[in-house]
Amino acid sequence: MSEQIKETKTESATNGAQKPTSPNSDLKLDFASFWEYSTAPESGDFFDLKESYDHFIGGKFVKPVKGRYMKTINPSNEEVIAEFAEGTSEDVDSAVKAARKAYDKEWSKLSGKERGKYIYRLARMIQGRSRELAIVESMDGGKPIRESRDVDIPLAAAYFFYYAGWADKLDYAFPGREAKPLGVCGQIIPWNFPLLMLSWKIAPALAAGNTVVLKPAEATPLTALIFAEICQDAGLPDGVVNIVTGAGQTGAEIVNHPDVNKIAFTGSTKVGKIIQKSLAGTDKKFTLELGGKGANIVFEDAPIDQTVDGIINAIFFNQGHVCCAGSRLLVQEGIADRLIQKLKDRMETLIVGDPLDKNTDVGAINSKMQFDKINEYIEIGKNEGATIHQSSCNLPDSGFFCRPTLFMDVAQSNRIVQEEIFGPVLTIQTFRTPDEAVQKANNTQYGLSGGVWTDKGSKIFKIGSQIRSGVIWSNTFNKFDPTSPFGGYKESGVGREGGLHGLYPYVKLK
Ligand code: NAI
Ligand code: MG
Repeated sequence: MSEQIKETKTESATNGAQKPTSPNSDLKLDFASFWEYSTAPESGDFFDLKESYDHFIGGKFVKPVKGRYMKTINPSNEEVIAEFAEGTSEDVDSAVKAARKAYDKEWSKLSGKERGKYIYRLARMIQGRSRELAIVESMDGGKPIRESRDVDIPLAAAYFFYYAGWADKLDYAFPGREAKPLGVCGQIIPWNFPLLMLSWKIAPALAAGNTVVLKPAEATPLTALIFAEICQDAGLPDGVVNIVTGAGQTGAEIVNHPDVNKIAFTGSTKVGKIIQKSLAGTDKKFTLELGGKGANIVFEDAPIDQTVDGIINAIFFNQGHVCCAGSRLLVQEGIADRLIQKLKDRMETLIVGDPLDKNTDVGAINSKMQFDKINEYIEIGKNEGATIHQSSCNLPDSGFFCRPTLFMDVAQSNRIVQEEIFGPVLTIQTFRTPDEAVQKANNTQYGLSGGVWTDKGSKIFKIGSQIRSGVIWSNTFNKFDPTSPFGGYKESGVGREGGLHGLYPYVKLK
């Protein structure tokens, strides 16, 4: 480290005396330009990933009928990690049949208490393999290990624990009503929180007595396949959980299968609309958790340093691949200049790089496709006349990385303000009055999340109640809890996941 320490040879400003010789008073440490963290890579040496993964159907790994495979890469170095089966209609059909058989013969007949025992076991076994799951999540999807280790995997286990607790208490969940399962649930999840989205979907479905066919995203199938191994190890009855891998076409086969009773989808608004159209006229229930363009509103009385960190967490957490990200900053005029300067300073300290390094704050963009999309939006923002600011950090030579980015001088009608970028790109607008903030916050097609930063409790409640979003955080952002419902208004989706509300879409009430 010694060569990284900068000696600042300044003379005393007050008396012009010679610089002191004591090393303690002489040595000034310039942290901003000379100190770097040594790397602290997490290592996956203690487990083996397979080179090739098959579908998990009826409790066994089975080869795809058509024999086709796809590859998943590590977006931080573009290397292939493994291949996985590409599901066709034949594979989906055999998964639905296995799920139906398990539903009819076993799972729907088990008592809630027995179902709960299995779900608790899944939760504990996720905890048991948490280090491996965190590493694989970071390798396959590019998110920093600190986030997979401290957020994704512990929360995934927490959702299983939470819904395990409801399995034998459905009478209390829906007092005076009899809650019956729906049957076979088709579940399609995205690539931004792979195992966590799996847990949001599988845990309540199983607790209510349903069986499932789940398709992970084609960019990040691996933790779902490890979860399949966990189901085997847990002795979960065959066919209760089936995992079919593949891309959009495989998802469509699940949506359109006639023997599926419910569809749960998380992903883009575009695909959500396609699914809603294909389900129109059927008696399949559905929940859709789609895109967002969350407003993060900062009032003049907000605690500024905490707010700056909250803004960082709102938009740079998981490289901004977060449907509920605070991707639009609305800041009251009086503190805008000070806040934006502090935000830029804080952005300079973010470490962008190897997802497996424990120091990394911002990892790799999930895929080439998403990388191109973000860069396209950065160009759109420049062409719309906005002022861009990016942190000056070094980026790795290979892989898909994007500098934390701000856009100032934007208009409400700009595409970068209206459309979901799903990357580390924040737009900044100012406002004068609370009414103006609310008006701007609500002026997009989305309604998933929002944030309010202020010292005044009354303002939190007043503004919070005026924002048309499923989730509002105040003086914090991107906090999740299994007991809390999550979901959107407008084009952000239909239905709620999490909490008691998240159980409701998996039952029919008598
Ligand atoms: P996507 O919506 O295409 O993918 C999500 C899942 O849906 C994947 O498992 C995919 O295989 C599946 N899928 C795709 N087409 C389908 C179809 N016709 N029927 C059934 N399933 C289908 O999202 P994509 O293309 O990966 O990302 C594009 C944009 O979507 C992102 O840039 C982002 O803005 C948004 N997005 C939002 C998410 C959210 O959590 N709200 C998650 C992922 C993406
Ligand atoms: Mg991958």
